[in-house]
Amino acid sequence: MSEKDSNTLPWTVMSHSVTETRKIADILTRLILPSAVVLLSGDLGSGKTTLIQAIAASLGYRGAVKSPTFDLVHVYECDAVRIYHVDLYRVQSADELSVLDLPYAGEDRTLVLAEWGDMLAPWYPDHFHLTCESCGSRCRCFRLDAQGEAYYRRWEKWLGSSETIEKEIGH
Ligand SMILES: Nc1ncnc2c1ncn2[C@@H]1O[C@H](COP(=O)(O)OP(=O)(O)O)[C@@H](O)[C@H]1O
Ligand SMILES: [Mg+2]
Repeated sequence: MSEKDSNTLPWTVMSHSVTETRKIADILTRLILPSAVVLLSGDLGSGKTTLIQAIAASLGYRGAVKSPTFDLVHVYECDAVRIYHVDLYRVQSADELSVLDLPYAGEDRTLVLAEWGDMLAPWYPDHFHLTCESCGSRCRCFRLDAQGEAYYRRWEKWLGSSETIEKEIGH
C-alpha cells in the first residue's frame, strides 16, 4: 500500500518481488513517456538497475540492459524512444561529466534514466527523482518525487488519467 495518499508527491510504493517491481515499472513507463529525466538514488542492490531493465522491457527493448558502471552511459534504441541509461557510481566529481554525450533537457522521445544520478541535477533542473530502498531480501521501497513545476504538473495530469495504481500492482 502507499504510505501516503496517491494524489500527493512524494509517492511511495512497496514491491514485494521482482515481478511486482516489473508491474511498477510498467506504470512508471506510462508516466515518463515520451520524454523525461529520472534521477535514481539508493544503495547497491536497492533495485535501480532492475527497475530500469523492466522499463526498457516495457518499451519493447530486447537487448541486454546492464549497469554502465565503466562506460557511464548505455543507449537503448526502442521503437518509440531512445533510452540513455547512466550510472555515475564511479564518478568522483562533476568535472568528469563533461565527457558524457547526454541529450539536452526536454529532448523529444528521449528518456534519461540515471543511477546515482544526483550529480546530474544541475544539468537537468526539472526531473523525476526516484529513491530506491531495500527493506528485506525481496522487499524494495520506491519513492517518487518531482522536481520543477513542469514535472509536478505532468504527474498530476498522468494521475488523473491513470487507473488506480495500487490495484494495478496487485496490492
Ligand atoms: N522486489 C524487488 N525489486 C527489485 N529487485 C529485487 C527485488 N527483490 C529482490 N531483488 C533483487 O535485488 C537485486 C537488485 O539489484 P540491482 O537492481 O542491480 O540494484 P542496484 O542497481 O540498485 O544496485 C537484484 O538481484 C534483484 O533480483
Ligand atoms: Mg545498478
